[in-house]
Amino acid sequence: MLEKMINLARDAMGRAYAPYSKFQVGAVMRGADGGLYAGCNVENAAYPQGCCAEASAISAMVMAGESRIAEVVVMGRGDGLVTPCGGCRQRIREFADDTTPVHVCGEEGLRKTLTLGELLPLSFGPENLNTDDEG
Ligand code: THU
Repeated sequence: MLEKMINLARDAMGRAYAPYSKFQVGAVMRGADGGLYAGCNVENAAYPQGCCAEASAISAMVMAGESRIAEVVVMGRGDGLVTPCGGCRQRIREFADDTTPVHVCGEEGLRKTLTLGELLPLSFGPENLNTDDEG
């Protein structure tokens, strides 16, 4: 399954629209149902309006009716590890937990596997909103 996710992420990375940064990223979410959902980064001439690959993949997942992430692959080029940006760690957190594996890949394949808890310790998630207070 991981190999399949990596291949999908490579395809997604190749479709990225990144004319400004020239940094293409692909991401794949595996849903709890086993479905695979890919996304790429899509930049914009108004720079802050760009969208990360992880956000695109999460949109595809939600559109398919899935609401749990079981596993994540992120792929980008360069020597450094392309870990999800801070905002995307939180986006993944909405549908995942501390134990969810995040596989960080280069075009050649897997470089490092981390858990979401390692990437986003002591995170705030949907459960934090469950209080008995009337507010
Ligand atoms: N990017 C992603 O798509 N995901 C990440 O986790 C890191 C950064 C994109 C955003 C922007 O289009 C380009 O990479 C350079 O930052």
